[in-house]
Amino acid sequence: MKSILVEGPGQLKLVEKPVPDPGQGEVRVRVRHAGICGSDIHIYHGTHPFVRYPRVIGHEFAGAIDAVGSGVAVDRIGQRVAVTPVISCGACYQCRVGRPNVCKNLRVVGVHFDGGFSEYCCVPAELAHPVPETVDDRAAATVEPFSIAANMLSRTDVEPFEVALVYGAGPIGLTVIQALKGVYRVEKLIVVDRIEARLGWARAAGADLAINTSDRKLPDVLTEKGLTPTLIIDAACHPSILEEAIDLASPAARIGLMGFSPDPSRVSQRKLNAKELSIFASRLNNRQFPNVIDWMARGQIKPAQFISHNFPFTKVHEAFALLETTPADCCKVMLDFA
Ligand code: NAI
Ligand code: MN
Repeated sequence: MKSILVEGPGQLKLVEKPVPDPGQGEVRVRVRHAGICGSDIHIYHGTHPFVRYPRVIGHEFAGAIDAVGSGVAVDRIGQRVAVTPVISCGACYQCRVGRPNVCKNLRVVGVHFDGGFSEYCCVPAELAHPVPETVDDRAAATVEPFSIAANMLSRTDVEPFEVALVYGAGPIGLTVIQALKGVYRVEKLIVVDRIEARLGWARAAGADLAINTSDRKLPDVLTEKGLTPTLIIDAACHPSILEEAIDLASPAARIGLMGFSPDPSRVSQRKLNAKELSIFASRLNNRQFPNVIDWMARGQIKPAQFISHNFPFTKVHEAFALLETTPADCCKVMLDFA
């Protein structure tokens, strides 16, 4: 089989590997489609904090089970599945309180464990979630990025009468926007970005107001329109955004953070407590795959709208180059393996 291997920083290669046999409790997935994520690019460039090389990358993928290891029901062979990348130990504090996505011994497929940019990939059977006929193969490979939004919004809770504000209309922001409109049906959804093309996608995904903050100040626009956000999600992930969000938020608002910048944000406890704000962090997904698959089956989110490009996996260098040179033209760039 062919796999996409990052041998070390800057070394992305198509390599030939033996087709792996599923171990005990594992299934083997014949991968059909996989999405490229910003973190795959970080692994490629050696700027990912956790990866160990060499690594077959890819954590957003779907396909069909074509073999099972011992202890796995044989009737799973042939099942179409989307694979969650979160492997947890089940024994630590976090796992025992139902938070396996921040497990003490967390391993992420495609980061700590060989991933889905490969014609075949073996994973623990419980990671492979069945996908109904109504969800096509390409859509199934986008369950993971939508699960990031699902997790964030499960943390903050969402009411239909929110005035929601989303910072950033990149791929992650767009999954949040689709979920806020299609699933939670929020009354008012404001999106800010500095790239006009991305604001166009935000409008297509349901944003009521898409604001370009390269030439206007967000606080001025909100004051002018008389809008006070009750739910704020930062999918742009610059540390300065939290500071502004605290100023703009309504009392009793919730703020959801998704970034991993090591730099601090300047936060005033007086402002937080005076408005009794809540701040939520979110990492990967906590058992959100069934929810997202259900959203797709019901047509509440639109994966086709989220995918901007498709490449055969043999053109992986071209696909990465496109994402790196023209990110504003790209939303989800997919690799086809079958
Ligand atoms: P991206 O870089 O494609 O999109 C970010 C968008 O934010 C861009 O369109 C950019 O123009 C915009 N932006 C940047 N600064 C801004 C500002 N100050 N105001 C308004 N807009 C601004 O990135 P992508 O793939 O959408 O990911 C977004 C973030 O989500 C990344 O930082 C990533 O690390 C994080 N992430 C978090 C996960 C989690 O589990 N918490 C999982 C996956 C990604
Ligand atoms: Mn991802």
